[in-house]
Amino acid sequence: MELLDGKKVSNDIKDEIAVEVQKMKDRGEKVPHLAAVLVGNDGASLTYVGSKVKACERVGFESTLVKMPSTTSEIELLTKIKELNEDDNIDGFIVQLPLPPQIDTQKVLLAVDPDKDVDGFHPMNFGKMALDMSTFIPATPFGILELLERYDVDTKGKHTVVIGRSHIVGRPMSILMGRKGWPGNSTVTLTHSHTKNITQIISQADIVISALGVPNFLKAEMVKDDAVIIDVGITRVTDETRPKGYKIVGDVDFENVSKKASHITPVPGGVGPMTIAMLLKNTLLARERHHN
Ligand code: GUN
Repeated sequence: MELLDGKKVSNDIKDEIAVEVQKMKDRGEKVPHLAAVLVGNDGASLTYVGSKVKACERVGFESTLVKMPSTTSEIELLTKIKELNEDDNIDGFIVQLPLPPQIDTQKVLLAVDPDKDVDGFHPMNFGKMALDMSTFIPATPFGILELLERYDVDTKGKHTVVIGRSHIVGRPMSILMGRKGWPGNSTVTLTHSHTKNITQIISQADIVISALGVPNFLKAEMVKDDAVIIDVGITRVTDETRPKGYKIVGDVDFENVSKKASHITPVPGGVGPMTIAMLLKNTLLARERHHN
């Protein structure tokens, strides 16, 4: 079994990005600048946004954190987005999801300038992704592709089963794994809450990508020998022995599934750190496009 070490690979990617940033500085150019908008004070979102800002520092990017109260109206958020769209100093920005219920997420995602949409959530970018046109690929799916590539995982002609059809992970992942090229050329089954015989389908998978958010969902007896297992689950479960009072667990029963798998991502330290590294990569790309 080979561990797909997202922590290590994400550090490699950040080092590579830092080198590019240094070159920009040496040429006297402005460094990439990422802004993140956080509405409300959801604990997990605060942690994610904090990690994104910290990662910017590490590679030498500028970053701006825009914090807005949970009572923010849709108009107030749309006004802030317009400001960020028009601010030449900002190369890319993200609006952390989920948003409070009074705000229409679709409207917000549509308001982001596609050229600054480093999350790749704007319908224009999502459509381009589906049509193999150059674009920003959503960070989590992009991170999974990068992990498969750097560990030389063969995807051609393999049966990939994606569990969960979220707009952020499952849906784009199912499109990307079926695209021409590598990592891709896979035969994809996208499963969800209405899928019949899901265990039977998973048992046929060469590659399982689980983005469900149900701890310990994927058990050893459900997967075939030598399957590649990508665990995108991040669920907080109470654990009084931990300093923060909780621990992060994935969808996969790692201890037992890892004995059968050919490759597997751990949680934490698998897909999570890759997401952040690829957001930085998209921001670098935005800066380069902006500049040229
Ligand atoms: N919420 C969960 N994942 C993400 C992500 O990748 N980007 C944003 N903006 N919000 C999220």
